[in-house]
Amino acid sequence: MTNVHEVLEWYIDAGVDILLEDAPVDRFAETHPSLEKASTTKNGPEKRPIRQFDRQPEATASMALPDAGTVKSAQEAAKSANNLEELHSVIKSFDGCNLKRTAKNTVFADGNPEADVMFIGEAPGRDEDMQGLPFVGRAGQLLDRMLHAIGHNRENAYITNVIPWRPPGNRTPTPQETEICRPFIERHIELVEPSLIVMLGGSSAKTLLKSKDGIMRLRGKWSEVKTSNSKTSAMPTLHPAYLLRQPAHKKLAWQDFVKIRKYLDERPR
Ligand code: URA
Repeated sequence: MTNVHEVLEWYIDAGVDILLEDAPVDRFAETHPSLEKASTTKNGPEKRPIRQFDRQPEATASMALPDAGTVKSAQEAAKSANNLEELHSVIKSFDGCNLKRTAKNTVFADGNPEADVMFIGEAPGRDEDMQGLPFVGRAGQLLDRMLHAIGHNRENAYITNVIPWRPPGNRTPTPQETEICRPFIERHIELVEPSLIVMLGGSSAKTLLKSKDGIMRLRGKWSEVKTSNSKTSAMPTLHPAYLLRQPAHKKLAWQDFVKIRKYLDERPR
């Protein structure tokens, strides 16, 4: 018979490590009044009514769907940041993205902001949310090995994500969440001014290249990431989490990393 822990581990590996509704609900605060009245009668304990919850999650729609005002306030907040410290602090105090409500930490970046190369993933996962750092779980360990293979590590590479908050259950961020967070990653790029951006996975590549093409079409091709104040050479490649599931595709990522290494070795300094 299957052990219950094995089933739970299977769910956790698949990214289902939390069960959520659209909005958080405080179950402790919502005892139904009829339950409070339940008492013992002379015929024994009074039959308890079936528990009913009549409290509605607050403002679910406005939390999930940003309006133009939310995007504008993200743009203004991002623009107000003159350096990485200020950007980190404006993101931490920004309340316009629903993902922040379920995340434990704002995951900003790791590595060396002076590095020539900036790696950009999709969004933090469970380990990243817990530690407040990008790419520290299994996918991050594979990324570290890939960096090592081209003579890099977190001292000469800078690592971040398009989205700074973990989507519940590691789901893909919605287009709305991505548009709200776009000003932050674009300002992040402008402040770091890398020579090269490496986009890890389809979500990051599509967002930053404003493309509808899938990662298999985009990967390995030189492209450019444009923000309102910058233009940076860029290479999309496969996400390390995908490579953990499809190890046969590591050879494709390796081809991309060879190009990345050549670029970094040959760039004018
Ligand atoms: N996947 C990502 O895209 N980013 C992380 O930080 C971790 C996993």
